[in-house]
Amino acid sequence: MARKISFINYKGGVGKTSLIVNTAAALAKMGKRVLLFDFDTQSNASIWLLKLDRWNKINATGEGAIYSIFDPGRGQVKDLVVKDVVEGKSGEKLLPGLDLVPTTFNLVDLENEYTGDPKRPPYLVFHEQLAAIEANYDFILFDCPPNILRASQCGVFASNEIYVPANPDALSLIGFTLLVEKLQKFHQLSASFRRAAMGAPAQVHGIIFNSIKTGVDIEVPKMRMQLRLNQFKTAKRAAPVAKIFDTQIRDAMVVRRAVALGLPVALVSAEAADAGPTGDNVITDYRKLANELVGHVQG
Ligand SMILES: Nc1ncnc2c1ncn2[C@@H]1O[C@H](COP(=O)(O)OP(=O)(O)O)[C@@H](O)[C@H]1O
Ligand SMILES: [Mg+2]
Repeated sequence: MARKISFINYKGGVGKTSLIVNTAAALAKMGKRVLLFDFDTQSNASIWLLKLDRWNKINATGEGAIYSIFDPGRGQVKDLVVKDVVEGKSGEKLLPGLDLVPTTFNLVDLENEYTGDPKRPPYLVFHEQLAAIEANYDFILFDCPPNILRASQCGVFASNEIYVPANPDALSLIGFTLLVEKLQKFHQLSASFRRAAMGAPAQVHGIIFNSIKTGVDIEVPKMRMQLRLNQFKTAKRAAPVAKIFDTQIRDAMVVRRAVALGLPVALVSAEAADAGPTGDNVITDYRKLANELVGHVQG
């Protein structure tokens, strides 16, 4: 069965999209079958992986974008999958195994204009359609905006695990705290739609520190985060297995450059990847993170 995972934090700019895209790429490189859903209307992950030309075509009509399953309601999740999304200049497949369901800017209309059947909230519609393709994957990942509004709810409701990207600062800790509160509320709100076969509602399973500068000591913010996590675990508001990941992702220029190149960092040439004196670089961080995620038992 596919592991279904959302990356989310109530703080923006912590690196949710960079982490999920590069972790997805690392998982695909390990031979896992990976499907990434972009649930952030800003479309960062979609523009990144499709590159602007291909994404523009989808944005112009909305056809092929996730919002089409809600409005006009004719789209089906299974038909929206862009197989082996990462392509080179002449359309050659660069990363087999990494698929994407893209979004465009119209996803924002889900939050206001959309008036569906109140007995069938968007997350339920999405979840039913996801079932048709789940068996094709080892990992299904959801990139979410920094909130739990309707678009995010689709990812959160379908997920069994949640990971929280964080920077070593107070705002990330506040974002995490707020996330756990809002998660709790959403799980209550959606409880009547949850069937036993769906498994337990997703709790936080891990915190991942991102964008760590060399020589910066993050022990204190890490300790604060650990204390908060322990409180949530005691209160059963985080998964028993929840932990701060041993792997942290360094701050590296190539992560920002990769976006402009339309490639996951793992496909940017090694010498561009800020290899330090030991040859160790941010690509290794993402690979380690993917390994740690694979080995992180569900509870
Ligand atoms: N490890 C990193 N090193 C350097 N820059 C990073 C790293 N991770 C993320 N960034 C940059 O930080 C900014 C915010 O990251 P992004 O992934 O878009 O965050 P979010 O999805 O949480 O809003 C982007 O410009 C991104 O390129
Ligand atoms: Mg993002």
